[in-house]
Amino acid sequence: MTAQAMIVDGTDLDAQASALRTVSPRLHRCLDPVRLTTTASAALDRSVRDFGPETTGGRGGAYVRAQTTQLAARADGIRALLGLFGPAVRHPDAVVLDLLGGNGLVRQVNDLFGLIDAEILTCDGAPHMVSAAWAQGSPAVLQQAQHLVVRDCSVDGVLLAYGTHHIPAAERAGVAREARRVLRAGGVFVLHDFDVGSPMDTWFAEVVDPYSATGHRYPHLTRTVIGDHLAAAGFRGYRVTEIVDPYVTTAPTREEARLRLGRYLTDMYGLVRAEAELGPDGASAWAARRAEEIFRFTTQDGVPARPRFERTSDGQWAYLVPRPALVGTAVK
Ligand SMILES: C[S@@+](CC[C@H](N)C(=O)[O-])C[C@H]1O[C@@H](n2cnc3c(N)ncnc32)[C@H](O)[C@@H]1O
Repeated sequence: MTAQAMIVDGTDLDAQASALRTVSPRLHRCLDPVRLTTTASAALDRSVRDFGPETTGGRGGAYVRAQTTQLAARADGIRALLGLFGPAVRHPDAVVLDLLGGNGLVRQVNDLFGLIDAEILTCDGAPHMVSAAWAQGSPAVLQQAQHLVVRDCSVDGVLLAYGTHHIPAAERAGVAREARRVLRAGGVFVLHDFDVGSPMDTWFAEVVDPYSATGHRYPHLTRTVIGDHLAAAGFRGYRVTEIVDPYVTTAPTREEARLRLGRYLTDMYGLVRAEAELGPDGASAWAARRAEEIFRFTTQDGVPARPRFERTSDGQWAYLVPRPALVGTAVK
């Protein structure tokens, strides 16, 4: 279902809607013409500026490079999240909104591995990410998760993942309400984040905050808070559980696989201060070492999880760095 790569202005909502009409009438039908004209281009708050280009103090360029060069690095977690939509998205016209869609990674991983049949619309509040998504064949629309330009009861699934903590705490309940508004009856909302005090929280505090140009001081969610947001939005049936959502990199040798992981993390989190101190290769080795120290935990089933190597079926080495993530799943 890969669409054609296109140059579309990430700031221009009209241009995005018009391109969408051409490449996917199904996705275009979900847009609400009234909301399109009344919603000004998403106001750029601090969290969205993080994902702008480096020239404006963001880390969006390196972020996109990380996802593009190692498309499958987070495929296991994406597979688990898309699987949670279950039968709600098993019909020929199914649509899923990816609210924090970035440059379209979830759609691209779905295209690569054929995980679900639904068509995924990439949504993002950062113009840089929206144009990057179109340029990589992922149709995208500029919108804040708090103020969707999507019709009531028009989609089968809504995914809020890989950045929920970037939404200001006071606005998160509003995002859950928006998700419920745009879902059809029986549609599913999947809300993912990393728990307060989890290895990912430590990674952001000890590595990303001091070594990136943007810093990273965003409060994470907890099981209780996720449940509260889902209940307050009016979802009657929901559950909150844990998934293991690893980074995985592969290469011919163990050491190369480990360094690839370090490079992925350095780019993804824009660790420019580490690169300035240690050089690109030194920063990759350092980031891999820090990940090895931080991503160690016991799963909710009591199983110890540690970074490890595995042989792949084609004789390469995979380096797996596990991360525990919380996921709320709610049915409208
Ligand atoms: C960590 S990236 C994740 C991108 C993609 N899902 C991935 O996994 O690679 C988080 C994305 O959320 C976007 N974002 C942050 N706050 C947002 C908001 N309130 N509304 C819409 N997008 C937002 C950012 O611009 C960024 O592209």
